[in-house]
Amino acid sequence: IMDMGYADYGGGVSHEGMHHGGTAVTALTGPRDRPADVSVTLVARAERIQLPDGRSVAGYTLNHASPGPEIRAEQGQLVEVRLVNESVPDGVTLHWHGYDVPNAEDGVAGVTQDAVAVGGEHVYRFVAADAGTYWYHSHQVSHEQVRLGLFGALVVSPPGGTRAGVDRLALVHTYAGRRTIAGRPGETRVSAAAGGTVRVRLVNTDQGTLRAWVSGAPYRVVAVDGHEVTAPPPVTAAAIVLAAGARADLELVVPQGSGAVRVDVGAGTALVFGPDGATAPADPEPRTAVDLLSYGAPAPLGFDPSAATRRFEYRIGRRPGFLDGRPGLWWTINGHLYPDVPMFMVGPGDVVRMSIANDSGETHPMHLHGHHAVVLSRNGTAATGSPWWTDSLEVADGERYEIAFVADNPGVWVDHCHNLDHAAEGLLAHLSYV
Ligand code: C2O
Ligand code: CU
Repeated sequence: IMDMGYADYGGGVSHEGMHHGGTAVTALTGPRDRPADVSVTLVARAERIQLPDGRSVAGYTLNHASPGPEIRAEQGQLVEVRLVNESVPDGVTLHWHGYDVPNAEDGVAGVTQDAVAVGGEHVYRFVAADAGTYWYHSHQVSHEQVRLGLFGALVVSPPGGTRAGVDRLALVHTYAGRRTIAGRPGETRVSAAAGGTVRVRLVNTDQGTLRAWVSGAPYRVVAVDGHEVTAPPPVTAAAIVLAAGARADLELVVPQGSGAVRVDVGAGTALVFGPDGATAPADPEPRTAVDLLSYGAPAPLGFDPSAATRRFEYRIGRRPGFLDGRPGLWWTINGHLYPDVPMFMVGPGDVVRMSIANDSGETHPMHLHGHHAVVLSRNGTAATGSPWWTDSLEVADGERYEIAFVADNPGVWVDHCHNLDHAAEGLLAHLSYV
């Protein structure tokens, strides 16, 4: 198979097992024929958000709160979420960020469904097939709606749960210029026994890069974008970097005695874990960061990236032009301005290799829907650590990543920058699997 480039439309490649009548509709939706194990109704409203520190900011809420309710499920359970739009004028959807749901459940307004107008509702159903830390957010005018509060967490545990004594979700979000964890700025104390294990599920719901670090004890990065890291070594004096939309689960042990552990997310906002009265040092932000390209131990991928049947190039640039008739300096994909960007076409079971090169002058956290990709290399340096599965990959200016994934989820998927302002400025392409 040759390098086909971004504009390949699949001509000449045959796919065994593909039905000529196209993909069955049931492959595109979640199960509709059995009762749900987890049922949640989320009501979206335009109203002031009451933050835990007593302030309130104008925005959007789900069930009168932002972040919205934490959705917890066990692996294998059927999740049903009924979304009701009470008063969000532009309409809303819910996208399960990082979760490989069937296409019709993906919640992308204008691609997989229409936005739910005021007075309307929509039901999402999917099987929680993968354990890990994920989140959900509106995918309608998302550069405004996510910033203004329409999001929450989705946490799926393996049957029997995780082994940590304290399992703490940390949705990091900036409301009206203040960095918060679950809406709370500053330091939040969480009671944890000396010698106990703590799992912190960091989720970067902001548009920029998040750097987190730990004082008072070493930590391990036990999962990245919902996927377990193999044999994660202890980290001291290095930050963990999360692209916009990315997650990292940190595991740490509270010291014996009267010490506590502090997890900082910048701007003085932190979680402090320990027995009552225990104190933690507050180290300054480390200069170095964990490099996931070489962190942990190699493990089987479950497929062979060297047997690629599709190769795509995703080159990000920037140039002046017109987007929807508006003049400006817009992002380009392989030199093209949105929507003049051909689809990346794949077929059932294709092993896809994509190189993402950024020569645009800014950083772009790239997010592929419906699939998990593994990082093969960065700037020509091959990955040597634990398989780095990602759905939200930070690609800095001048960088080039090579990733691979198996096309195993039929439908039309978007692949865009999760600096959501950039997506609205044209940094969005479609992956089509039929
Ligand atoms: Cu988190 Cu297409 O989005
Ligand atoms: Cu971007």
